[in-house]
Parts: sequence; structure tokens; C-alpha cells
Amino acid sequence: MPGDMHDDDLDQLDPLDPLVRGERDHLRSLVAADADGDERAVEAALRPRSLEEVVGQHRVRDQLGLVLEAARLRGRAPDHVLLSGPPGLGKTTLAMIIAHEMGAPLRLTSGPAITHAGDLAAILSGMNEGDVLFIDEIHRMSRPAEEMLYMAMEDFRVDVVIGKGPGATAIPLDIPPFTLVGATTRAGLLPGPLRDRFGFTAQLEFYDPADLDLIVHRSARLLDVALTADGAAEIASRSRGTPRIANRLLRRVRDYAQVRADGLVTHDVAERALDLYEVDPLGLDRLDRGVLDALCRRFGGGPVGISTLAVAVGEERETVEEVAEPFLVRLGFLARTPRGRVATPAAWTHLGLAVPPTATQGGDPALFDAE
Ligand SMILES: Nc1ncnc2c1ncn2[C@@H]1O[C@H](COP(=O)(O)OP(=O)(O)OP(=O)(O)O)[C@@H](O)[C@H]1O
Ligand SMILES: [Mg+2]
Repeated sequence: MPGDMHDDDLDQLDPLDPLVRGERDHLRSLVAADADGDERAVEAALRPRSLEEVVGQHRVRDQLGLVLEAARLRGRAPDHVLLSGPPGLGKTTLAMIIAHEMGAPLRLTSGPAITHAGDLAAILSGMNEGDVLFIDEIHRMSRPAEEMLYMAMEDFRVDVVIGKGPGATAIPLDIPPFTLVGATTRAGLLPGPLRDRFGFTAQLEFYDPADLDLIVHRSARLLDVALTADGAAEIASRSRGTPRIANRLLRRVRDYAQVRADGLVTHDVAERALDLYEVDPLGLDRLDRGVLDALCRRFGGGPVGISTLAVAVGEERETVEEVAEPFLVRLGFLARTPRGRVATPAAWTHLGLAVPPTATQGGDPALFDAE
């Protein structure tokens, strides 16, 4: 198993088989990263590398599988793909898988890195036919770059502007057909024309406990963590529906098991460790509870604006909106109304508070769904 695996064990695998060789290098980097406590490297190494390895998200997986298969049959680059959803659900993972499944190189960049249209032109002009371009946080790209991207996506052409002022000239430049994969935590922030140019849009959902359970078992196997079925289930149920959190909690619980127990992750060990790390039985972390707490205790259950709520918990508005809120909405603890955020009766109950008679009963559907 990787955790105890020495280089000798890895070298036992057939070095001539490219698949085995890839696997061996992969395991070796995972062992090293885990030993160094390098979270990002461990995260990268735990990523599923093919659609087949992806746990959960069945609908997205099937649909995407079809898009890729059809493109392969036609011998063409697949349609542009937009992946949206809260952090840690697998957007970057899927982008890498798309390139891997197409056997195409992946070029990575992100919205904030593209401040000028020229930055994008430079990237696009270096693309080869069939390349996959991944733009993370695509909603944070500058407006001129965005407009250049429309044309590139649709016509595989960009106008490169040379010079400034009245003497400026636009030189059209053809780009070989490529596939754009965009990722965003906020699909709602993308301008319509950009959203419309994606041939396939996948909205990633929070994972249910059964899928997270599979993910915890898979990661435990790769990291050589010994755990019982109910130990895994406890971690899964407190992972906020998020694979990244499941992987992180697994490693924290493993620390606890090694230091305070005999190394085996049992239900009891998981429970004690997660209590210590302030992850509550529903998976709410400090920020989630802070938001609920402020909403109920300081603002009487709302309605209150998201910016005010963010100030109250000392966080950026974006963090509250993109990280805490989606999960609280999913649990049915918080509702968005045109007048602001409100706590539902379940939120009061979860905090151990009496439900005030004014708490929204979830009655008026028109109140929900607002931004
Ligand atoms: N379907 C899945 N099955 C197994 N593991 C997964 C799955 N999706 C994600 N993971 C794990 O969760 C981690 C986080 O996933 P990823 O980095 O793709 O999230 P993301 O959506 O890009 O997040 P962010 O918005 O923060 O960039 C990965 O390291 C991977 O190990
Ligand atoms: Mg990502």
C-alpha cells in the first residue's frame, strides 16, 4: 500500500508497461507528497484521472462521456464545456479528465490571470488543433478578453489589435479548432453571450453520503489509512457533500488516529477527531455555523443582505456567497429572498434555539430563488 510503499515495491511493477509506469510514478509522487504534508500535491494525486474513476455525479458523467465519445467518433475536438458548482466538487478534476480522455494536451489558465485581451490572444495563438484550454474562474476574466473569447469560441478566430488610437489595425488570426473548458463557482455571473457559446454545461451538485463514502474508501486505500466501515461513514457524512473536504478530513482523522489511538480509524475515533476540528455532525464548519449564528442571533433570522452578513462574520462577501451559502441552502437552513437571506426553522433548531413564530415557514415559493 502506498503509505508504507518503498521505492523497491514500486520498482517491482513492470517498468516497461507505460500504464504501469504511469501508475508507479503517480504512486511515488503521492507517497512523497503525503509524507511532506503537502496538501495541494496530495489533492492533485488523489484526483480521479479518467471518467471511469469519477465517483458520483452520474448524470454529468454520462452526458460528458457521450459528448466526448461522439467527438472521438467524428475525429473532431469536442464542444466547449462549462463546469459550474461550489468549490471542491471536481471542476478542475473533470477538466483534466476531458483532456486525458481525448488524449489531448491541457493548457491551464485562470480568469484573473487574463487581464488584457492580449494575454488571451497570446495563449490562443499558441494552441494546436484539438488542444484543451482550461480557464478556471472564468467569470473573473476582463471584459475585453471575454469579447475576444466569444469570437474564438465560435469562429476559431481572433482579431489582434496592433497599435493604439486611430492608427490601430486589427489583424485577424485563425486559431486551430480547440476545446475550451471553463470552470466557475458562479454560473450566474457569466454574461449570457459567453454562457450561450458553451455546447455543454454541467452543473455539479453536492455529493450524497454514499458517494462520499466511496471516495473516502478510495482515498484511504491510496493513502494507506486503515479504517472501518463506520469510521468511513462518519467522515463521509461530515464532509459537506464535498470530495475535497472528505479527503482533507480523512487525513486529519488519520493524524488523530495515529497520535491519540492505535492508528485505526473507527467510528469513535472519527467522531472525536471531527469534534476536535470543529466539524459538526452535519458537516458544518466554523464559517457555516458563524453565518447561521449571525443570521439567527444578531439579525433575528433575517431578512438580511449578504454583504451585511459577511461583515458580521468578518469574511469576504464572495466567500460567504460561494462557499458557505450553497451548502446552507442545500441543507434547507437558509433561504434567499428578494429582501435578503432568512433562516428557516431548521436553522434555529440546529443551533439549539427556539424557533421564533416569525421564522419563515417556507410557504411562499415566490420568496425563494431570488439572487
Ligand atoms: N468525482 C470525484 N470522485 C473522487 N474524487 C473527487 C471527485 N471530484 C473531486 N474529487 C477530489 O476532490 C478534490 C477537489 O476537486 P477539484 O479540485 O476538481 O475541485 P474544483 O471543483 O476544481 O474546486 P475549486 O472550485 O476550488 O477549484 C480533488 O483532489 C479530487 O481528489
Ligand atoms: Mg478547481
